[in-house]
Formats: sequence, C-alpha cells, structure tokens
Amino acid sequence: MILLDGKTLSKKIREQIKGRVEEFKNRGIIPGLAVILVGDNPASQLYVNMKTKACEDVGIYSINHRMPAEISEKELINVIKMLNDNPMVHGILVQLPLPKHIKEENVIEAIDYKKDVDGFHPYSVGRLVRGNPLFYPCTPYGIMKLFEEYDIELRGKDVVIVGAGNITGKPLASMLTNAFSTVQLCHIHTKELEKKTKKADIVISAVGKPKLITKDMVKEGCVIVDVGISRVDNRVVGDVDFENVSEKASYITPVPGGVGPMTIAMLLYNTVKAIEINGT
Ligand code: GUN
Repeated sequence: MILLDGKTLSKKIREQIKGRVEEFKNRGIIPGLAVILVGDNPASQLYVNMKTKACEDVGIYSINHRMPAEISEKELINVIKMLNDNPMVHGILVQLPLPKHIKEENVIEAIDYKKDVDGFHPYSVGRLVRGNPLFYPCTPYGIMKLFEEYDIELRGKDVVIVGAGNITGKPLASMLTNAFSTVQLCHIHTKELEKKTKKADIVISAVGKPKLITKDMVKEGCVIVDVGISRVDNRVVGDVDFENVSEKASYITPVPGGVGPMTIAMLLYNTVKAIEINGT
C-alpha cells in the first residue's frame, strides 16, 4: 500500500507558486485574494484561517471580509461587486455554506467569473463540462494532481465517486470523464452502493460520514481517495475505515494529510492563474 501524500505534494506545489509570486512581484504585481466569511461557523472559520495563512506563506496578499450571519443577500452581493471592480483583487472566494436566508446561487453568480478561483461559477462549471476548463474547483483539482504525481492511470478505469455535491463530486466526475475514466457518481439515493464500489478501480468518497467505506466494500488493489472530514472523539477522520481498507488498497489518501492540503495548494495556484485571466 502506498500513501497518497498530499502534505508533501502540496508543499512542493506551494514552493513553485512562491517562485511565480516572486516573478509577478518583480513586475510590480502583487497577487490578491479576497476571502469572504459570513457568520461564525467554526469549521468555516478554521478553513478560512488556513487559506489566509497559506496565502501569506507564498506572498499572496489576502483581504479578509468577515460579515455577521444577519447580513442580507443584497449587502453581500454589493461587497462582491466592489471586489469585482477592485484591480488589486485577482481572486474572490466566498466560503460555503452560507446562512439559510442567502441564496448561494445568487452569490456565486455575482462573482466576476474571471475572479472565480473556486471554480463554482456556472460559467466555469459549463466550461469544465464542455472540456474547455477555465478554473478547476480546488478539491477535485488537488485530487487530479495526486493521481498525476503518483502516475495513476485514469484512462479506461472504472471510478466510483460517493457524494454528488457541487464542491467535489460533480466537478470531479467531469474532470475524470475528460480524462477518459468511466465514472459512476453515487449519492444518498444510490441503490446497492457496495456492489458498485466493489467493482471499482478507484473509489472516491466525499460525504463526511465516518466508516462509510469499509474493507468489504472495495476490491483488492483499488485506489482510495478520502475527501471526508469529520470529528470523532476530538480526532479528524475521513469517510474511509482507513485501518482496514488500507490492507486491500494499492494507493490510499490519509486523513488528515491527503486531499485537505491539496485543496489549499490549488486555491493558491488558481489565484496566481487569475492574474493572467484578468489580464493584469
Ligand atoms: N466549503 C467547503 N469547501 C469549500 C471550498 O472549497 N470553497 C469554498 N468557498 N467553500 C467551501
């Protein structure tokens, strides 16, 4: 069994980004990322702090906008419009989830698609599905980078993705389809999940349910990617019963230290890419 070590790969990518940031700075351009956090969800606060710290480490200027949970959709969209017009800001990220009274779709669509470093805007999503991507969403992008780093063949492979959300499952299905994998995108209403995962060459779980993927659900030699993050007895765990599944897997991501650090590295990557897309 080989660990898909996202911690090490993300460090390598961050070093490369540091170099590119330096080059931009020598040309008088400081890469800028605006991060918006609405409310005080502790997990979101933690993620936003990690993202801001990662920006600092590579020399990206990050502007934090923390807003109370009671802010109206209109007020939030006004802040986004201001950031769209600010030439110092190359990327805009609105941390999800948003409070219930705010429509996520309206907020995402308000972001200038050229600054959409999360790759959540319908324009980016559409381009990805058509096979002409602009920004790849950070988590699936990080997973694809792990596959690339470890020379994991995707062409012709049977892939089961568990979890059909907009952040990971759906965009990852498109990215793997573009790489000529045969993808099954499974979710809460999927029948006989176990039958499907058992046949898969690659199983990716992005649900947030500890021990959802057990040893008897996967085949010998499979590749396992765990995107879940849950807290159990003050420990961070994924969706996969790592201890037992790792006995059967050829490659497996740990949690923590697998997909998580890759997500942040790819956000930094997208922010630098946004400079070119913005044409500044
Ligand atoms: N919430 C959970 N993951 C993400 C992410 O990748 N981006 C944003 N904006 N919100 C998230």
